[in-house]
Amino acid sequence: MEQGLQRLLATALKAISAACSEQELDQVRIKFLGRKGELTRILRAMKDIAPEERPQVGLIANKVREQIGAELTRRLQEIQQHQRSEQLKKEKLDITLPGAFVTLGHKHPLSIVIEDIVDIFFRMGFDVYEGPEVEYDYYNFEALNIPKHHPARDMQDSFYLTEEILLRTHTSPFQVRIMEQLAPKLPIRVVCPGRCYRRDPADATHSPMFYQIEVLVVDQNVSFANLKHTLLEFACEMFGPERKVRLRPGFFPFTEPSAEVDISCFVCEGSGCGLCKGTGWLEILGSGMVHPKVLAAGGYDPAEVSGFAAGMGPDRIAMLKYGIDDIRLFYENDLRFLHQF
Ligand code: DAH
Repeated sequence: MEQGLQRLLATALKAISAACSEQELDQVRIKFLGRKGELTRILRAMKDIAPEERPQVGLIANKVREQIGAELTRRLQEIQQHQRSEQLKKEKLDITLPGAFVTLGHKHPLSIVIEDIVDIFFRMGFDVYEGPEVEYDYYNFEALNIPKHHPARDMQDSFYLTEEILLRTHTSPFQVRIMEQLAPKLPIRVVCPGRCYRRDPADATHSPMFYQIEVLVVDQNVSFANLKHTLLEFACEMFGPERKVRLRPGFFPFTEPSAEVDISCFVCEGSGCGLCKGTGWLEILGSGMVHPKVLAAGGYDPAEVSGFAAGMGPDRIAMLKYGIDDIRLFYENDLRFLHQF
């Protein structure tokens, strides 16, 4: 029996060193040490030997088991180490290869124009605020002197969430919000850019979501001349130093008097071209002197203070500036379009 064990040890060691993978090694372990393996088979014969010899034989059997076990562990480490170094050889990195370039995003044309506009007013001493896009009917219409029967208040024209709450249809509600917030402080000099919403079917010049920038000045003795000068400064900064502005009578419920503001065409310098449709002028914003009722709604006494306001659409300004003929291009996120700016 002793001999049998020694022979077993010898064949097991040979099989272990011949195993080349973890699976093969596992097969070897099962074959020799498994419950139905060779060692168990030999040990079953224990019952046939003399009882006084059994401890001696048992000792040898344990040693053989230990030796085989130790050898299995050693070989396993060897195999794993070999596998790892093979893998490392395969995965060799060439650190001299040029890196993969990450394409950086850049600003959306509308963001560029909005930032330019806001920046011009900022340099003229205006503060920049943002108002809520979900607005009360009160601020969007009522406080701006837009009466109940006004067509803009029609469900067909505005996105109402409840009877009293809607998506703002312009940035003008911010006029009253900021006056309420700052009253009775003077002066107020603010711009408010942001998104607005109207129930307009999308076409080349309409989008149900678009941008506006609101301008508001309130102080003692603010005059129409201040309005004109401020807007002229803005036009020259934005569209070039040679710009002229032209004010035409207009109507907005929240300003009195109101004016539509044109700038001299920056393509033809006023002589007439395709962009200005031969007129030499481009309409860029609405404006006017803040209506006394609006000042009062904001908490200011119209007998004491006055103000001017203006509202412009950066979508339209960006279209003019970049020669874009369809507003929908801004919102489709077609990279072929966006990459041009
Ligand atoms: N809120 C107006 C609109 O959506 C634009 C506007 C006109 C704003 C005149 C003003 C203003 O502040 O004075 O058409």
